[in-house]
Amino acid sequence: MRYNAPVSALAIAADHAGVALKAELVTELKKLGHEVVDLGPSSTDSVDYPDFATKLTALVTAGTPPLGILVCGTGIGMSIAANKVPGIRAAVCRTEFEARATRQHNDANVLCLGQRVTGAGVALEIAKVFLSTGFEGGRHQARVDKLKALEAGR
Ligand code: RB5
Repeated sequence: MRYNAPVSALAIAADHAGVALKAELVTELKKLGHEVVDLGPSSTDSVDYPDFATKLTALVTAGTPPLGILVCGTGIGMSIAANKVPGIRAAVCRTEFEARATRQHNDANVLCLGQRVTGAGVALEIAKVFLSTGFEGGRHQARVDKLKALEAGR
């Protein structure tokens, strides 16, 4: 199957436990034609994942770019942080199936990956599926609308 890149631009960020996987993804996704906004970090010095989740979600909630990838040791800390931000639907994915389903059903806009859990080859395939799958709408739209109502306190 030929890989197409309908969402050409994305933002990416990590913490120290995700910086190596982030670097691999940046390289490979650029080769595939994506415009990648790399928000760091660029070293393995210890940092706090909420700080980098905050940087990335600020861009994604503004829609510039519309999708993001966050990498930490497990993907879980990043997802917890990102999901505190209104407008963000972040999903930890370990499989291509999950990446496809969360785009189709949840309209997830942030993919969270764990460098200590998922190898670089699998992570790249997951990212490609996430970036090339669209939201299905229909019955899923009403559910996403309820998520938005929840975060608005309604
Ligand atoms: C850092 O040691 C680690 O806690 C972090 O990368 C992440 O896995 C947290 O969820």
